Amino acid sequence: MIKRSKPMSERVYIFDTTLRDGEQSPGASMNTAEKMRLAGQLEKLGVDVLEAGFPAASEGDFDAVSQIAQKLKITEVAGLARASKEDIDRAWGAVQHAVKPRIHTFIATSDIHLKYKLNMTRDEVVKNAVEAVKYAKSFTENVEFSAEDGSRSDRDFLCRVFEAAIEAGATVVNLPDTVGYAIPSEFGELVKYVMDHTPNIHKAILSIHCHNDLGLATANTLTAINAGARQAEVTINGIGERAGNTSLEEVVMALHTRPNYLPMETNIRTEAIYPSSRLVSMITGILVQPNKAIVGANAFAHEAGIHQDGVLKNPMTYEIMKPETVGLNRNKLVLGKHSGRHALRSRLKDMGYDLSDEELSVVFTKFKELADKKKHVVDEDLEVIVTEGILRTSD
Ligand code: KIV
Ligand code: ZN
Repeated sequence: MIKRSKPMSERVYIFDTTLRDGEQSPGASMNTAEKMRLAGQLEKLGVDVLEAGFPAASEGDFDAVSQIAQKLKITEVAGLARASKEDIDRAWGAVQHAVKPRIHTFIATSDIHLKYKLNMTRDEVVKNAVEAVKYAKSFTENVEFSAEDGSRSDRDFLCRVFEAAIEAGATVVNLPDTVGYAIPSEFGELVKYVMDHTPNIHKAILSIHCHNDLGLATANTLTAINAGARQAEVTINGIGERAGNTSLEEVVMALHTRPNYLPMETNIRTEAIYPSSRLVSMITGILVQPNKAIVGANAFAHEAGIHQDGVLKNPMTYEIMKPETVGLNRNKLVLGKHSGRHALRSRLKDMGYDLSDEELSVVFTKFKELADKKKHVVDEDLEVIVTEGILRTSD
């Protein structure tokens, strides 16, 4: 048998925007305490950059970003700002105490946004982008520039804006598929075009930020990485505006599982994926669909007899990754009305929920009520109890 050697891998930076774009999911708003808790978990997960919010959006957002910036010990903290001095002042005010602060400024570049939203010419957009990057640069070295609706922008204009932003000092330029319109082959070609036609692109990191309106966000992100992008903007469970953003767990596990196809490394501690997913769903109240890749309740479940037989003989017959790799422990205790707090806590921990004593008490009471009516309480019951029970008490 020919043994293929593992190709040399490169690094992809993971920029998590669960707390900013993810929070833009309908019904997903989080209070400062919840954001701080999630930020701590994302640091444990190993994200490189955490976009903590949009400080100019509200006092609450400013406050949350600034507390997160002061709390995190190793992770870069970014604050979003439109391309205006007021927004950039707010963003800097909030992130300035982070160990590594980043200002992320953006302006739209597609003709449709220029005409109907901004009422600006292309020249005016370039001027505005340059001024914004230079102004942000007066506060910090670490400035990211995004071309909103980049995937629907004229390619040469996109390259012109990126080149101008890099000359003005942007260290990261981000190409968003803001409305989830791109198709993988097309998006890969666009990334390659930008790499080939932006003369100083090598002085910056090219990032991509995809939305999932056609269910293609992960595919577009992977194709873009293959074409040269080195920062991926993602959210836990893929939450975000409309159909959501690219999901962190899908991109990270695709890179992890297929190193020969895409030889890229991330800093993510994959065993922290499952607990992070549970925490996001518990805090936002947005349940994960059962068939969701990597973190759905059925992602490692086998129903068909042939599959069950195969998995018992060797799990790799029908599993392409080990559940433990993403932090899912399947050693199940049967829970019923005689079970105590310790068994419940241990089961919840295996399911990825790390609850405070107070939260456990709420869940335990509801668990006992259900166990009185039902012989065995299964994971799906606990998912509902945790999400509803804890949300209701924190309302
Ligand atoms: O989708 C988008 O274009 C954005 C930008 C602000 C990066 O979220
Ligand atoms: Zn977005």
